[in-house]
Amino acid sequence: MKNLRGFASDNNSGVHPDILNAMNRVNIGHTIGYGDDIYTNSALDKMKEIFGEDSDIYFVFTGTAANVLGLDTITQSYNSIICAETSHIHEDECGAPEKFTGCKLLALFTEDGKLTPEIVSKELYGFDFEHHSQPKVISITQSTEMGTVYTPQEIRDLSVIAHKYGMLLHMDGARIANAAAYLGLSFEKFSQDVGVDVLSFGGTKNGMIYGEALVFFDKKHSVNFKYIRKQGMQLASKMRFISAQFEEYLNNDLWLRNAQHSNKMAKLLASKLKDVPEIQITQKVESNGVFAIIPKEIIPILQDAYFFYVWDEKTSEVRWMCSFDTSEEDVINFTDLIKKILK
Ligand SMILES: Cc1ncc(COP(=O)(O)O)c(C=O)c1O
Repeated sequence: MKNLRGFASDNNSGVHPDILNAMNRVNIGHTIGYGDDIYTNSALDKMKEIFGEDSDIYFVFTGTAANVLGLDTITQSYNSIICAETSHIHEDECGAPEKFTGCKLLALFTEDGKLTPEIVSKELYGFDFEHHSQPKVISITQSTEMGTVYTPQEIRDLSVIAHKYGMLLHMDGARIANAAAYLGLSFEKFSQDVGVDVLSFGGTKNGMIYGEALVFFDKKHSVNFKYIRKQGMQLASKMRFISAQFEEYLNNDLWLRNAQHSNKMAKLLASKLKDVPEIQITQKVESNGVFAIIPKEIIPILQDAYFFYVWDEKTSEVRWMCSFDTSEEDVINFTDLIKKILK
């Protein structure tokens, strides 16, 4: 591949230099392993400033682990988990949620990646009937895999319906920072305050090297989590290097600056293409992703210059993701190239 910069994924970008510096700063001497260290205590305190003393917070390595272990903790294998068809837990976790939880995933069609009470209500039946998997969790992604963002009210509507049926609401927040930047709200305002029970809080896609947090808003849901994390092979021995990243990420609004920037680059990309008749932007651009239907024949030429993924081969829909390090120059060069090829 000639040009290593591209719009394939926010996983493809590097690490913010402040994060690497923070890891370097804690790379001194010996400290107790497995999270019993001053850096981890300090990072957890920082997170508790956001989510409150009653929250229970744990670091893990990956977003998939946060989702899978979080869901495993709040379910039994006879349960089902309602999610969007486009959700990462359904599409991109290689069946790990099913393998580890034993639950049935009920993946539902949405226009824009967002579940609604109306959509989930199709699966709200069979309670107390031993022949039916018992619905236990509604899982939503914020921001969604389609680049859209739930409003706090939309999340509240889902938590109300979940709780009415004795279920819980899980949020996959792999890109929660992008949602917060878009909404102009702090994290708790559209999670804890509107009835989310368990949150996978991401960092990797927004400038960290690895490390995600799992936030339980009620300790009764996390009583066994420390065992589940260890059995799930996600207890980092050198935990201080995850903790140092979180501390830096949350300090000085690094998370916000990175997310505001990647969101802005996605908006710029979409705005540069909005008047190109051959291109149809298919989703609202509310976070750091742009979805568009483009002429099939130009895809390989563009991919050769700036790699990206085709989202839907049938419709020729592509996904362009922006990162904390996407530059205006990247966007302008890319959109100019598109216009040049289409001339
Ligand atoms: C919405 C969403 N959730 C979870 C994940 C999982 O993250 P990881 O690749 O760190 O397991 C991803 C990764 O792309 C994602 O896009």
